Amino acid sequence: MKIKIAASILAANPLRLEEDVTKAQDAGVDLIHVDIMDGHFVPNLTMGPFIVAGLKRIASVPMGLHLMVEHPSRFITPFREVANDGDFFEFHIESKDDPREVIRLAREAGFRTAISLNPPTHPSRVEELLGEVDMLLVMSVNPGFAGQKFIPEVLPKLRHLRDIAPEGLDIEIDGGITEKNVALAAREGANVIAAASAIFKAPDPTQAVKDLRRLAQEASKLVVERG
Ligand code: DX5
Ligand code: ZN
Repeated sequence: MKIKIAASILAANPLRLEEDVTKAQDAGVDLIHVDIMDGHFVPNLTMGPFIVAGLKRIASVPMGLHLMVEHPSRFITPFREVANDGDFFEFHIESKDDPREVIRLAREAGFRTAISLNPPTHPSRVEELLGEVDMLLVMSVNPGFAGQKFIPEVLPKLRHLRDIAPEGLDIEIDGGITEKNVALAAREGANVIAAASAIFKAPDPTQAVKDLRRLAQEASKLVVERG
């Protein structure tokens, strides 16, 4: 599967967001990952439609709106008004809304959809939804902050979900990804690599994007060769 890199702007410089996003896009990232937090679902507040509207003006790749919010359905319309067709509405199975309803409404609005699950959440919670979404997002940290440590215990869950997912489903891994562990995630079936610190805190973000992609590609090829 094609490896895609999603640059999470949570570790970008908020006062130079345009510069940082442009740099990431010039480095060839496939998605801009926007972490949206409501202070309830996670103990942090981040970006809302105001910022996404600004990003839309400079986005040359799709945006992945990662909604770490209790009620994703309430935010479909406000974000749709400032997003591009085909941007991803990535919401959590642990949220308080009916996931099938959120998928239906987000699709009707013109979003692509992704269902996400936190590290402690059992994979059975999302299994029946895999055929109804455009992407699965497996969290490898407990969401809330950039710069946390990767939780390797999610790897068997990732493998299981890749094994049962419809062929070709994009599976994104998010949280604590570095050059040291990206191969592990790619080997277990992640093909969309979200990274904040590993890109924006790197001395050379362009090189960091290249390295993450190369390491993930090599690891995913090994799997194919092994059959
Ligand atoms: C965590 C966010 C992640 C985060 C990743 O709550 O969903 O997207 O920004 O940051 P790093 O790559 O620094 O772990
Ligand atoms: Zn995220």
